[in-house]
Amino acid sequence: MVNNQFAMVRPYERTVSRSQPEYHYPGYRATVRRAPSKPLIVLPHTLSEITGPLFGHEDTAETDNDLTRQHKGEPLGERIIVSGRVLDGNGRPIPNTLIELWQANAAGRYFHNTDDHRAPLDPNFTGAGRTKTGSDGSYRFVTVKPGAYPWRNHDNAWRPAHLHFSLFGPAFVTRLVTQMYFPGDPLIPFDPILQSVPDEKARQRLISQFDWNTTQPEWCLGFRFDIILRGREQTPFGT
Ligand SMILES: [Fe+2]
Repeated sequence: MVNNQFAMVRPYERTVSRSQPEYHYPGYRATVRRAPSKPLIVLPHTLSEITGPLFGHEDTAETDNDLTRQHKGEPLGERIIVSGRVLDGNGRPIPNTLIELWQANAAGRYFHNTDDHRAPLDPNFTGAGRTKTGSDGSYRFVTVKPGAYPWRNHDNAWRPAHLHFSLFGPAFVTRLVTQMYFPGDPLIPFDPILQSVPDEKARQRLISQFDWNTTQPEWCLGFRFDIILRGREQTPFGT
């Protein structure tokens, strides 16, 4: 019975591309220990991987996608709007997908007990949000621009300002994780995590674009970041 059901569903397409980061990239020190040392074993997708468990079907709260309204007061820092669309390899929108965002505060400090950077926490900023894409694949977050932070990867190592994104598709095997950067950041050429993506054009796709269409007068700047799941314009994942 199970085999008959499996024959009716197609496995997910796998990624094979220079647009994706290398597992072993010595400049990014953590990859040396965690990269696979043997060839990968490709496991077949079975019915359970393809059909579940499911994410994103609970309602999200009203302030989940506005990180500036999750506490009593407003967080410190430069308020920004980040929006874009989630698209498949043929440019078709991916609706109803749960997107999670996490980030450091404006001073470059995460609200996390392992972050010991000597920068202040902000009592009005947790740095976590989530939302679901609309019928046209669009999403939108209001937040503050994160600060750069040191990360001890090498001497005087600093991460460029970035947002972490996670996308939950319909099952565990479709979860994708990536990072978004900001245009003009002087740290971008020195970031081993971004440089672990072999293809220059793919690296550029992780840098958001300043966007007049979502910039609001007397309020804040807008940045645009589309996430492409497959194909020639694929967003690098796994960073
Ligand atoms: Fe980070």
